[in-house]
Amino acid sequence: MKNAIEKIRLAAHEALDHAASMKEIDDIRVRFLGKKGEITGVLKQMGKLSAEERPVIGQLANEVRARIEEEITRRVADLKENELKRRLAQERIDVTLPGVTHPLGKRHPISQVLLEVQDIFQGMGFSIAEGPEVETDYYNFEALNLPKNHPARDTQDTFYISENILLRTQTSPVQIRVMEKQKPPVRVIASGRVYRSDAVDATHSPIFHQIEGLVVDKGVTMADLKGTLEIFVKQLYGPDSVVRFRPHHFPFTEPRAEMDIMCFECHGKGCPLCKGEGWIELLGCGMVHPKVLTGVGIDPEEYSGFAFGIGLERIAMRRYNIKDMRLFYENDVRFLEQF
Ligand code: DAH
Repeated sequence: MKNAIEKIRLAAHEALDHAASMKEIDDIRVRFLGKKGEITGVLKQMGKLSAEERPVIGQLANEVRARIEEEITRRVADLKENELKRRLAQERIDVTLPGVTHPLGKRHPISQVLLEVQDIFQGMGFSIAEGPEVETDYYNFEALNLPKNHPARDTQDTFYISENILLRTQTSPVQIRVMEKQKPPVRVIASGRVYRSDAVDATHSPIFHQIEGLVVDKGVTMADLKGTLEIFVKQLYGPDSVVRFRPHHFPFTEPRAEMDIMCFECHGKGCPLCKGEGWIELLGCGMVHPKVLTGVGIDPEEYSGFAFGIGLERIAMRRYNIKDMRLFYENDVRFLEQF
């Protein structure tokens, strides 16, 4: 019987040595130590032994059982440790790898400049108006004192939907739409797309953007126009900005002017940026023509007003030193993400 116990011990040792998984160890536990296991089998035969042999064999069997239990515990610990090592090696994280980027979009430079301009005028008490891009001949031209056959129409040729419906050439028709609905005091800006049948080049596009401004009230003068636009330019381009007003023709304003800003590059001396002029044209403006006021039922004897129209692309090009306006429309992310 001693031999049998010793054999069990060796067999258990051998089996545990080769066990490679928890399942195998568990099977070994059942095989040797379980209720129907080999050690139990030996103990069941104790009845056949003599009174002197019984305690000796009993003690031996218990010792072997304890040894096997010990060994099982050790093998389980080994296996767990190996498993941990294996997972650590396999799931190693390289903290030097670049992180996962979640690209975030940006506002288009034209939108950025628009928001900035809107902010400046809202700060001066202007509210925001809107008008349609598909306009009638009446709003785009006629009501702005540009009757059919007026020569100034030639400079604003556009795309016609029908004889009297067209894509607006300017944001000025919003002036008429606002004044038809709202009696003075009026203080609005309106921005949006405008269209002209121009060929595409570095400074021309058949679609571009304008911001229109309109102020109508009692006693509004050219001084208000100059003051407002000077404040606007100084806020946009810095307090040292110098502007000048130069006569120009717009049928819907009288008197009318273009406003230039002194060239930032050469400060009036003349350089390639300002094409030797020393000044850069920024916007058109003037006092609202009495005919325009009368046309919307506002008495020009009682009220006066000023208006202006700014090219947004032009402002953005100056702002970001962009030489070719086509870049704004190409949607090349490498260009757009710089702003
Ligand atoms: N609409 C004109 C243009 O597109 C710009 C302009 C000039 C707007 C004078 C005005 C203005 O409101 O008073 O060239």
